[in-house]
Amino acid sequence: MRIDIITVSPELIKSPFEYSIIKRAIDKELIEVHFHDLRKYALNKYGKIDDYQFGGGAGMVLMIEPIDKCISELLTQRNYDEIIYMTPDAKTLNQQTSNILSTAENLIILTGHYKGVDQRVRDKFVTLEISIGDYVLSGGELAAAVLCDSIIRLIPGVLGDETSALTDSFQDNLLAPPVYTRPAKYDDMEVPEILLSGNFPKIEKWRHDKAVKRTENIRPDLFNLKDE
Ligand code: ADE
Repeated sequence: MRIDIITVSPELIKSPFEYSIIKRAIDKELIEVHFHDLRKYALNKYGKIDDYQFGGGAGMVLMIEPIDKCISELLTQRNYDEIIYMTPDAKTLNQQTSNILSTAENLIILTGHYKGVDQRVRDKFVTLEISIGDYVLSGGELAAAVLCDSIIRLIPGVLGDETSALTDSFQDNLLAPPVYTRPAKYDDMEVPEILLSGNFPKIEKWRHDKAVKRTENIRPDLFNLKDE
């Protein structure tokens, strides 16, 4: 998979790609990530990429021309499965969307800043808009990093244990059950006996029951989700 990230702050988004699982995926050449500094496509030598909004109101808006130049250049080089815009005024990211995106070959992710991008960018180029939650970040960079992490860990070969992404929370609209490791007893707190029993069908049932209970308590709304 190739991901092209368009941003006004490349430095802000680079570090999550330099560590741990994502770095390993890049080293193994399972993914390629390219950062595009929007200022390189600026209108003038002062790096102008934003302007006041028509109609008045606080906050600057990213202009269409630099984004058009950047995206159009990428589109001459390859086809993209999706051109994604990170914004709080969109549908919230969930596991199902990450699962689907993890099968893509090429993705562009555009991150907003200030008041966002000129609507005409969204109308002309963007095929998918994603929010990572009902709160506003200073820019879309951290949101893009979250999206990339959730996608990349699903690509076959990225995680050492192939099954571990499949048993993540949300894969079946359930939160994950509790997990334990050594020591089996810490102070007066003991690991549930069933987990030490070696009876795997029973362990699976215990985990499922705990996952259902946890979901009922914390996120009952997940039971109402239908796969789209
Ligand atoms: N940009 C600013 N806030 C955001 C959010 N919640 N999700 C995605 N992009 C954003």
